[in-house]
Amino acid sequence: MQVTSPNVSIKPVTASVNDLGHLVVGGCDVVKLAEQFGTPLWLIDEATIEQACRAVKAGLSEYPKTQVLYAGKAFLCLAMCHLIKRLGLGLDVVSIGELMTASRASFPPELIYLHGNNKSQEEIAFGLNLGDIKIVVDSVSELYLIQEVAAHLQRRAKILLRVTPGVEPDTHHYIRTGQADSKFGLPLENLSHIVELAQVHSDCLELIGLHAHIGSQSHEIEPYLEIIEILADCFVELQHFVGLTLTQLDVGGGLGIAYTPNDHPTPLYEWSRAIARHVEACFTNRNLALPTLLVEPGRAIVGTAGITLYRAGHCKNLPGGITYIALNGGMADNPRPITYQARYTPCLANRLNDPCSDKPITFVGKYCESGDIIVKDAYLAAESGDLVAIFGTGAYNYSMASNYNRTGRPACILVAKGQSEVIIKRESPDDLIARDRVPQRLLVD
Ligand code: LLP
Repeated sequence: MQVTSPNVSIKPVTASVNDLGHLVVGGCDVVKLAEQFGTPLWLIDEATIEQACRAVKAGLSEYPKTQVLYAGKAFLCLAMCHLIKRLGLGLDVVSIGELMTASRASFPPELIYLHGNNKSQEEIAFGLNLGDIKIVVDSVSELYLIQEVAAHLQRRAKILLRVTPGVEPDTHHYIRTGQADSKFGLPLENLSHIVELAQVHSDCLELIGLHAHIGSQSHEIEPYLEIIEILADCFVELQHFVGLTLTQLDVGGGLGIAYTPNDHPTPLYEWSRAIARHVEACFTNRNLALPTLLVEPGRAIVGTAGITLYRAGHCKNLPGGITYIALNGGMADNPRPITYQARYTPCLANRLNDPCSDKPITFVGKYCESGDIIVKDAYLAAESGDLVAIFGTGAYNYSMASNYNRTGRPACILVAKGQSEVIIKRESPDDLIARDRVPQRLLVD
């Protein structure tokens, strides 16, 4: 079967160029969008998200019971919840803010998985009050807290245990989570102990499965195959020694996307198909019943769907041939380059057909940090006033954005079939100032 996996492309699936040489996404001329909504501007292409969801589901289709969970931490707002719900995905949430967003979008509680390594009593209670959500337990003390909250609410919480399988993917060390010394999850050696604890409290806790997540922006499939083996062994151990049959296996997210032509991630369809086949083989070989298989991609669903539009401002030519072009955004709307040395692909969205330059330029942000560089060494003939588009900014840009230098976050526009709608309003300086309070004594001269 030929299935398009958007995570291997730098551009959204609908990207094209029109007669004016302008970038078109979701049937919309982005030059017009920049005029209408201002810059910086985040665009999200609905068709790319739909195609990514189709790809991951198609890869799982031969496996009897599956559920794709979208990792909301990549990008979440009400419209995204509605879209994800319509596409039949569940949701991985990690905070009261994400839980409330899901709840306001009437997301089915049974498809919500509450993650995080320090869930508060309030978050657990809010989740359990929504209905039949699942909670992914990250530590022994958290297990006790969930048990207490569930007992207080007279509920039986469905839980999965997150284990650290000791597998390290090929990614930046800040976004690895599967290694033995990770701050996330339970060491494998402690598994039977915590399972016993869960069983002691089985009136309030129903242990249904195991979870592992090895990290993010991983290009390879092998680490996933390794964790499936390890988790299948855990299922055997629990069945033989504790007599417990678990019904859910969640292998996490973390599949990467192509940010530049040098990135070659496993296509989403092949990733989920390889996972499904391996789970089937591992569980069958061990004479285990097949559990419901869950995967939790975030970036691979929404990353390629996103584009950021900036207006090019001042240009600086330094001795030694360095040329800086300053954009009207930067690390506050995209903290990934300064945090992880992430690389991106830019284009001049107002004149896509113009020839490339043979001299490199560097697009820098406008924030007060020397490291606020969005793209180094771009071979584009950019000038002040150009509209610069950066591809691949759908994941972990809005969700990690800040108000550094007292700047409001940009607006976010959903584009589809020639329509463009605001899904997140731009923050104005007034929005920020409105939250300030001045102690009376400072007002007295
Ligand atoms: N499941 C769990 C338990 C996670 O912790 C994460 C990501 C995901 C799923 C989804 O991972 P994805 O498919 O999106 O890679 N801010 C970093 C990424 C941090 C990822 C945190 N956890 C970045 O911008 O690269």
